[in-house]
Formats: sequence, C-alpha cells, structure tokens
Amino acid sequence: MLSIDHLTKHFGGLPALNDVSFDCPAGRITTLIGPNGAGKSTLINCVTGVLVPDKGSVRLEGTEIGREPSYRIPYHGIARTFQNLALFPRLSVLENVLSGLTVEAETGFLKSIFRPPATRNHERRLRLKAMEMLDRFVLAGKADWPVGELSYGDRKRVEMARALVSGPRILFLDEPVAGLNAEESAAIGEEICRLRNLGLTILLVEHDMDLVMAVSDGIVVLDSGELIAQGSPEEIRHNPKVIEAYLGRMSVTA
Ligand SMILES: Nc1ncnc2c1ncn2[C@@H]1O[C@H](COP(=O)(O)OP(=O)(O)OP(=O)(O)O)[C@@H](O)[C@H]1O
Ligand SMILES: [Mg+2]
Repeated sequence: MLSIDHLTKHFGGLPALNDVSFDCPAGRITTLIGPNGAGKSTLINCVTGVLVPDKGSVRLEGTEIGREPSYRIPYHGIARTFQNLALFPRLSVLENVLSGLTVEAETGFLKSIFRPPATRNHERRLRLKAMEMLDRFVLAGKADWPVGELSYGDRKRVEMARALVSGPRILFLDEPVAGLNAEESAAIGEEICRLRNLGLTILLVEHDMDLVMAVSDGIVVLDSGELIAQGSPEEIRHNPKVIEAYLGRMSVTA
C-alpha cells in the first residue's frame, strides 16, 4: 500500500535518514522502533509533507506523494498524530476534532458567508461525526472543554479522535501511548487493533515494547537513520543487532 524507497534526509549535513526502504502492507500494523534520534519522527514527517526528503520516494498505491505539501496529504486518505501533540489549546475538544475534517468542511467562500440550508445541514453532519468520534474515545462529556484544561491522557485521545474523524485509509501514529498509564495504554492498544481489523493500514512509532510486541504485524528498526532490521515481532525480539542497538538497553517484558 505504502512504499518507501531510498528515503534520505539530512539536517545540516547530518543524516537523520539514510537510504531507508520498506513497505507498509495494506490492512497491517507496521511498527517503526529504534533509539531516540533514530529518525522515526523524521520519517513520518517526510511521508506527510511536513519535511521534504532530500532523496528517495514515497508511493501510495503507486502514486508518488513524497513531495506533496502537508495540506494535500488528507486528500490521499492519510491522517496522523504528532509526538508532541499539535492541538489548539484554547479551542474546545469538539472544535479540535472538527479541525480534522478540513477536506469535507470545504464549502466555498460565498456559501460560508451566507450559509444556505444545505450548508447548515452539512455543518450539522460534520458536528455529528465529530461527536461520534468523541464518544468512541470517551470524551463526549468534555466536548466543550478547552483542550488546554484536559489531562495529558485526554489530550492524547483528542489527537487520535482528530486523526480518525476523516475516516482515513492510512494512519501514522507517533508515540500514541507515551506518557500514558498502563490502563490508558492498553485501551489505545485495543483501539489500534480494532482499526487494523476494520481495514486501516497503520504505521506506528512507539517505545512501549509491550504494546509493540502485542499489536505489530511487522517491525522495522532504525538506528542513527539506518534501517538495521525488519521482520515479525518474534524475529525482531531475537535479532542480535536489534538487541545490541536498542532492545538490550530496555527492559522487555512482552
Ligand atoms: N527539524 C530538525 N532540525 C534539525 N535536526 C533535526 C530536526 N528534526 C530532527 N532532527 C535530528 O534528526 C535526528 C532524528 O530525529 P527524530 O526526531 O526523527 O528521532 P526519533 O527517532 O523520532 O527520536 P525519538 O524516539 O526521541 O522521538 C536527531 O538527531 C534529531 O536531533
Ligand atoms: Mg520521535
């Protein structure tokens, strides 16, 4: 579904990604792991138009998207969350989730000023969609709260809700359970598996190895911008290179 080929990105001469190639098969969870600074977020940023890669290509079902600007990315059915949350703290939970519907919210200049009945109906449908998504993430009771007043766990779930509200085909999740407690992490893990079972293609970045080993169909390992291994969770768990570069430095219980 998504093919990443020879992707390369330097910052000031230092390689953050060096000639990285792998595929994300349709309807599967592919997980990107590796030490801090390995290039995981850089890869998601290159694939979603936040950064322009120096070299290489990103193809979605054969169509090159590696140089698409970020505002075009949702039109391809792609959505993402950000490692450091990219919410609007003063806007309400509902408004933040509605901001994930920009593609569907386009009504044209005149219609947005005069708001004829069809436009008002359209807006009502969008709000309903957003409320359904809030319900799924147990946030409906906080729809009117400013996001800045929410707990960290709630804010992480608002990010997920905003990414999902447009009904994407591909989802990139950059550390969705970082900073969450065990119960909150398990709930997000279940949601990620449910989305995969509904047919979504997912690229997950995560350090929580219990979650990674439990949900991943395939794992790709980056270290200092290089792809050092890829395989099934079982293969990766026992790969000496991965143990030396990453897993050996963590306590793996899964
Ligand atoms: N905008 C930027 N400008 C300069 N250097 C950057 C930029 N973004 C990332 N880097 C550098 O690129 C390298 C890869 O960073 P990246 O954020 O992709 O790592 P990561 O694998 O996501 O790490 P973490 O697990 O800590 O999130 C790091 O050395 C980082 O300092
Ligand atoms: Mg990162």
